[in-house]
Order: sequence, then C-alpha cells, then structure tokens
Amino acid sequence: AAEKAPVTASGGARRVLLFPLPFQGHLNPMLQLADVLHARGLRVTVFHAAFNAPDRVAGYHFVPVGAGVPTADLVPTGSNADFAGALLRINERLQGPFEDSLREVLQEEDHEGARPACLVLDSNLRSMQVVADRLGVPTLVLRTGGAACLVAYMAFPALCDKGLLPPQDHSQLNLPLDDLPPLRLQDMVFSTTTPHETMTTCLERIVESAKCSSGVILNTFNDLEGVELRKIIDGVGVPVYAIGPLYKISSGVKSSLLSSDQTCLDWLDKQEAKSVLFVSFGSLASMDQEELVETAWGLANSRMPFLWVIRPDAVHGSGNVGLPDGFEEETQGTGMVVSWAPQQDVLGHQAIGGFWTHNGWNSTLESICEGVPMICRPHFADQMINARYVEEVWKVGFELEGKLERGNIERGIRKLLCEEGGEMRRRADDLKDKATRCIKKGGSSQTMVDLLVNCIMSLPS
Ligand code: UDX
Repeated sequence: AAEKAPVTASGGARRVLLFPLPFQGHLNPMLQLADVLHARGLRVTVFHAAFNAPDRVAGYHFVPVGAGVPTADLVPTGSNADFAGALLRINERLQGPFEDSLREVLQEEDHEGARPACLVLDSNLRSMQVVADRLGVPTLVLRTGGAACLVAYMAFPALCDKGLLPPQDHSQLNLPLDDLPPLRLQDMVFSTTTPHETMTTCLERIVESAKCSSGVILNTFNDLEGVELRKIIDGVGVPVYAIGPLYKISSGVKSSLLSSDQTCLDWLDKQEAKSVLFVSFGSLASMDQEELVETAWGLANSRMPFLWVIRPDAVHGSGNVGLPDGFEEETQGTGMVVSWAPQQDVLGHQAIGGFWTHNGWNSTLESICEGVPMICRPHFADQMINARYVEEVWKVGFELEGKLERGNIERGIRKLLCEEGGEMRRRADDLKDKATRCIKKGGSSQTMVDLLVNCIMSLPS
C-alpha cells in the first residue's frame, strides 16, 4: 500500500507541504526528502525563505516567504557563529509572512477537494509549526542533524538544572557526561558567542517542535545511531523515522547556493587511489587570515595531494582570501583549490584517502557513507558532538586539537593518510556497507520510508 499514491476526495494525489531552513546543510536534506515523497506519489509544495532560495525542481510548487524582510543578521558567520541567535530571528521575522502564505495555499488547495496532508518543517522552525497548528495543518519535523545531537539537545535543560551549564570555569570543560557518553561538558557549549538564555530558548524550541509534531524524521540510519534513536523514541513520545542517508535514498537532488567547480573531478581522475586529502568546512564556518596561512603551509609541508575548498567568504573579517606567497608554486601539481566542490562526488571518488572536515552533519554522514576516514576540526553547533562520535564511537577519524598551526596540521595529515588511516578506513568501509544495506528494499531506512508514507496517508484530509 505504501507504494501507491495517497488520493484526495477529488481523485488527485495528496499534497505535502515542506519548509526547509534557508541554509545549505538544511536545504539539501529537505529537498531530498521531498524527492523521496514525490517518488511515492505525493505532490510537493516547498515554502522557503526568500533569501538563500533553493533551485526550483520541475513539478514542485515553490512559495517564497518573507520577500523584503531584512536578512543581514539572519545568516550566521565566523568560526564561532551565533547560529542560535540567527535561528530565533529567522523564526520571528518569517512567522507573519508564512502565516499569510500558508492561508493562501490552503485556500487554493481547498478548491482541489482536500487540504494538504501535512507540513514537514525543519525542526528549527518552531514558530512556523505554531502557525500550522493554528490553521489545523498537522506537522512532521525533519531533523537534519544526527540522532546523537537531538539526544544532547534533549539533555541540555537537565544539565542546566544541575548547575553544569553554562560551565562555571575552564577546569570543568573536560568533565565526561555519564548519561551522554562519549560527550564531555565542552561538547555541549555550542557557541561561545551566543548568550546562554538564547541557546536555552533555541534548544527548547527544537525539542518542543519534535514533541508537538506527528512524527520526527531523521537523516541517519539505525545501524549508525540505534542507541541514540531509541533514546529519542523514549523521549519525544511521537513516531520516529530514521530514513537516512537522504542523499542516497533519494535521487540525490541538490540545491547548491554556490556553483561547484566540476574540474576537480577530472583532476582527481589523475591522482592515485586513496591518496588525496579533501579539505572542506561546509557552507558557514570560516577562519581568520592567520589560520588560512597555517592551513596552507600545513597542507604544503605534508607533501600529500589535496583538494581544498575555500569559499569566497571562508576568511572572516576580509573580502579577500589571501593564500600565502609561494604556496601555489610549492603545491603545483599536488594540490588544487576550488571555491565550491561537488562534495558527494568528491568523497565518492576513488582518489580520496581522507577528509578534513568541520563535521557538519551532512559532511560527516557523507564521509561515513563513502567510507572516507576524517580529520575533525569542529567549529560550532552540533559539530563537536559529531566529531566526538567520529573519534570515540565509530572510530573513523580523530580530532585535530589545539591551535591551528602548520606543524600540527602536517602531523595530522600524515597520521590520517599514512599511519592510522588504514584501520579507520576499514571501519569506515564497514559503515559504508551498512549505509548501502539500509536503503535497499527491506533495509531499515527503506522500511521507515514506507511507515512514513503510511503515516502521511493516514492523516485526516
Ligand atoms: C550547517 C551546520 O554548520 C551543521 O553543523 C549542521 O549539522 C547542518 O547545518 P554546514 O556547516 O553547511 O551546515 O555543513 P554540512 O552539514 O556539512 O553541510 C554542507 C553541505 O554542503 C554538504 O551536503 C556538502 O556536501 C555540501 N558542500 C560543501 C558541497 O556541496 N560543496 C562544498 O564544496 C562544500
């Protein structure tokens, strides 16, 4: 039954509404979810912030929200960005415009003989869920981060009640959290620029969005985060659907906010198998000029081939990205720098031997699913949690700790590509096999998609 299209009273397929958060790491998973649901026969309407608008997908209905609202403080930047503050402002500024748009869409839909089945929203958009509740539209929530991250967010208030958060002094930071192994207190300090109250509100709303929904969808898979998924099931009191990796279970549709340089794939074709380090810090994290210089010389001095993504806004406090003099000459033939890469294809390329990542969840998941071991350098939000799991639970990488300094970097690269990488790669290959199995017919994620579609079909029309 799950394979059949849900049908409205007037005979048309039912419609699902979606609202992603307007950032790269959130847009792609939501569009991939849309793709999965569309392939099962549902019609798709995508509400989206007018800024950072996704590429249009043929056959979907796109509704921009909040054209003309000021956006300068809605996009977090810097190595330690105030992501939570930006999220609260996005909610506040888009709520009114979303209500207007949703009312309009509901009126149009009524003419078709059935209301939309539900709204699937990013779990960071609690204010939009309140609007949907008011207008009688059931909601499902997509968590684009890992299950471990949601477990940690759920545990945040208890750590505050115990007086552990915010940490009172530096010496506490290393404290292991007995209920959240392998996390330490420092992994729960999601940003040092966000005031504690803002962080508390932001995390409360994320957890609330899950609990107030008809179901939580996660971009992860059971063999990777089974323990954490069970904790979520116990904690949220609504059905939980782990249907990742979404980029694999969908047709892989993506919406890049920057255009990717495909020539790096040709360059990779010429490199030896498993020899190249891929270096990329996602779509938001940045470094200062000194760190850029240290990174450049760390890469050059390692004498290992590398492919390095330096976004136009990768260096904070400067519009100009300045690679040090002599770097290009020194790395000619062994290294390539691009401003945006087709990351999933790169990670899946046989020439890639390792990934130096900031551990955004998408990057972490993509690396795991392509069997690539990691050097972890988390910046903010969930990235410290993801890095901790990479090192301590899945053992497919290690954290590059301390100051970002060329000697440290060079040692880290050699450790990954020459010394300990083999063992880590074997474990990563094992996880890759599991990721491949879970999306096949009868696999855990594919089964969860069936259940999710059944749930959507059973929502009242
Ligand atoms: C943000 C947060 O920082 C992250 O912690 C959270 O888990 C999701 O939202 P971002 O920092 O952009 O995301 O990182 P990530 O989650 O890794 O997403 C980046 C996406 O951009 C990945 O899907 C990656 O494949 C893609 N990408 C990145 C490219 O396609 N090309 C690139 O050159 C770099």
